[in-house]
Amino acid sequence: MSSPILKDRKILLAVTGGIAAYKSLEVVRRLRSEDASVTVLMTEASTRFVTPLTFESLSGNRVYTDVFSSPLVHISLPEEAHAFLIAPATANTIGKIASGIADDMVTLSLLAFRGPVLYAPAMNQRMYEHPLVRRNMNTLGEMGYEEIPPEEGGLACGGYGVGRMASAERIIEALKGRLCRKDMAGLKVLVTAGPTREYIDPVRFISNRSSGKMGHALCRVAMRRGADVTLVSGPTAEGPPHGVRLLRVETAEEMLEAVRRHAAEVQLLVMAAAVADFVPESRSSTKVDKGGGLTLRLRPSADIIKTVSAMKRRPFVIGFSAETGPEIDRAGEKLRQKGMDFIVFNDVTFNGAGFDSDMNRISIIDSGGVTDYPLMSKEECAEVIFDRYLERRGGVGG
Ligand SMILES: Cc1cc2nc3c(=O)[nH]c(=O)nc-3n(C[C@H](O)[C@H](O)[C@H](O)COP(=O)(O)O)c2cc1C
Repeated sequence: MSSPILKDRKILLAVTGGIAAYKSLEVVRRLRSEDASVTVLMTEASTRFVTPLTFESLSGNRVYTDVFSSPLVHISLPEEAHAFLIAPATANTIGKIASGIADDMVTLSLLAFRGPVLYAPAMNQRMYEHPLVRRNMNTLGEMGYEEIPPEEGGLACGGYGVGRMASAERIIEALKGRLCRKDMAGLKVLVTAGPTREYIDPVRFISNRSSGKMGHALCRVAMRRGADVTLVSGPTAEGPPHGVRLLRVETAEEMLEAVRRHAAEVQLLVMAAAVADFVPESRSSTKVDKGGGLTLRLRPSADIIKTVSAMKRRPFVIGFSAETGPEIDRAGEKLRQKGMDFIVFNDVTFNGAGFDSDMNRISIIDSGGVTDYPLMSKEECAEVIFDRYLERRGGVGG
């Protein structure tokens, strides 16, 4: 998902000789879609797995494999780059770097680079666990080089275990985390996301169209900026952001309980979940028969934000107001009634934004007035929401 962090950043991507080299094509594609500029360096061995032509076509830049046919590129490219990413990183290249060897385009360029270095090991599990590889990786850690750990799963050699290169998504997330400012370090943040389900009987429920994407984007951005994040999430198709503490809930009642339990421990609560406004007055313990139709009586659900706002030791509270039209006055009313610190208004009927979309168009309303923002990715929205919070910090619970 697009965010401004990688825009116009120059990334050196070093590809070494493992089967996972083909997965780095996806890394290049994603970097390009984030408007980063990517230059690929390849070891001789890696060109046996994927051709430089493929990386050249995808990156739109020349690929460098041989130090002697491109003299001094190993000095000029690292000088301009913002990050050095090695993916996949073979046991061989990790060992060479740990010993200071510089006999190819990758290892040589690395020595000329000053800045964040990340590497994604990929190898058979026994190799990954070998004491020599561990020792070499410790040396890289002491240099401040960040490992993007491999995942568990089926390995190309036919075995199963830890050794599979991290997904392109995790690699990009790690890179963003490294290049992003850490102005939320030390902050504890609680985010709610997704819809709730209010059961009519054991198989049927009332829910809403929330995808959880805005809440998950808030978590990713807060994590990157250094916060300690707990996510209370209703049922969504979104994978939980890496490193977040996840509490899964289903009903509005469960969400209220989870938020109440954790709200006093955090400095900031962001209520991005679409909590049911109405819940069935009663829930049948058996499946309701179709014959004869069904009349439902609904009652208003417990108001989570109001409950938290009334707490003695309460966090800074940011609410969301999703409306079907430019009903910004209603959002302003909610802000006053519920005692939030500010509210994020969005019109879910706006073309290209809202439910299930990666984009949103928000307005932030607080006691000082309304600030409108253009259509942005949900990660960009999360960035401005946290910027605004940091500006306001020092207020209630701050
Ligand atoms: C089919 C095949 C797959 C390989 N996969 C890996 C791998 O996943 N990880 C690894 O560390 N080495 C792997 N190797 C070994 C490396 O290619 C070898 O150590 C090579 O010298 C690495 O060179 P480089 O680090 O300069 O790219 C593989 C070799 C072959 C033939």
